[in-house]
Amino acid sequence: MHKLGPSLMCADLVNLEQNIRELDEAGVDFYHLDIMDGQFVPNFTLGPDLVKAVRRITNKPLDAHLMVKEPERHIDLFADAGADMISVHQEATDHLQSTLMRIKNRGLKAGVALNPATPPDALDYVYDIVDYIVVMTVNPGFAGQKFIPLMYDKIAQIADKVKGYGRDIEIQVDGNIGAATIPTCKEHGASMYVLGTSAVFNSARSLKDNVAETRKLFNA
Ligand code: DX5
Ligand code: ZN
Repeated sequence: MHKLGPSLMCADLVNLEQNIRELDEAGVDFYHLDIMDGQFVPNFTLGPDLVKAVRRITNKPLDAHLMVKEPERHIDLFADAGADMISVHQEATDHLQSTLMRIKNRGLKAGVALNPATPPDALDYVYDIVDYIVVMTVNPGFAGQKFIPLMYDKIAQIADKVKGYGRDIEIQVDGNIGAATIPTCKEHGASMYVLGTSAVFNSARSLKDNVAETRKLFNA
């Protein structure tokens, strides 16, 4: 029930295929692909061609996290590239409801990501259609940042709200997700975990061992 998704911006891009084969074998549940436009966030990362390339080598669900302004302009691009799930930032569009509908009409899961300062009530009028909610536990843009503790409360508030709707809405956490933060995220109701440098892409241990160690945190 808890899903683990390595964040491919943190992978070794020179050895991406090898990384993905190892992570597939380790039994990860999805791949998280960070898409940045240098405007909504001050960084550039992956794009539709990389989504396409990854699509050729794995059958796991591909989760595109669009950290771009006016994401409504790019939904078809990422759907055509092979994404299975697309999340857009609430702060990046004036047309959240129609953007989510556009994603769903392509047959994909539609997510909303919230920056740390965005209150959960920004979701009040999309609970009937949203498939997953991304609680950014750091400010979007860069790997290797520190978890913002107030986000635990946000996860709990959203989890509470979701219960009232009786729909299968997942809560994804993104940013500094690892041994120090997973137990409390789990306690507060998160179900999808984006694994970057804090959990998987680090140390002398293999990716496989890092995934196995991370999975243990859920059985504790
Ligand atoms: C941004 C990214 C990062 C990163 C997380 O949306 O998704 O948050 O991959 O990895 P950490 O924070 O563990 O380096
Ligand atoms: Zn992300």
